[in-house]
Amino acid sequence: MEVLDLIKNRFSPYEFTDKQLTEKDLETLFEAAGKAASAFNEQPWRFVYALKQDAEEFKVLHECLVEGNQGWTNNVAALVIAVISKNYAKNGNENTVAQHDLGLAVGNLTVQASAMGIHMHQMAGIIPQNAIDKLNIPDGYQPLTAIALGYFEGESEVKERKAVNEIAFKGVWK
Ligand SMILES: Cc1cc2nc3c(=O)[nH]c(=O)nc-3n(C[C@H](O)[C@H](O)[C@H](O)COP(=O)(O)O)c2cc1C
Repeated sequence: MEVLDLIKNRFSPYEFTDKQLTEKDLETLFEAAGKAASAFNEQPWRFVYALKQDAEEFKVLHECLVEGNQGWTNNVAALVIAVISKNYAKNGNENTVAQHDLGLAVGNLTVQASAMGIHMHQMAGIIPQNAIDKLNIPDGYQPLTAIALGYFEGESEVKERKAVNEIAFKGVWK
């Protein structure tokens, strides 16, 4: 079987159309995210989001991005701040794979978004303290990344990837 077109054709645009996303769209995307596997089923991912049409909420999330990412996200349909729970709920120990598990959840969200015709652009460039203060993120949680979401029109911008033999080694590292 070939790699799914949904996966092959995905890319992260810097320009989005004016078309809005709905609360229902976001709910579906987060439901997909929440189906991801996680260590001890801890589900350490949390998401704070704002739709463009909710201008005040959107502005607050927008202010959690670094300047370089604020520039191209003024017109996106939704912004999400992705957060991890730093410790396991059951014993308080550090969850050393929380970032991994958040990545799995966002991976699910990405595939679901692609199936819905929605484009995404993830960002490491956030101002974590702004997110903590402005979004009321409690102790024990760490804002890690942001996601811009919306619709794209235009030519595909799919980028080159490493070959499989550069990233996967049979038996031992080669
Ligand atoms: C965790 C993560 C952090 C990223 N941070 C930023 C960022 O702060 N600003 C930005 O413009 N793009 C950011 N990107 C987008 C990447 O540059 C992009 O995904 C990569 O170049 C591959 O391109 P593609 O998604 O179109 O395949 C980030 C992507 C990921 C997954």
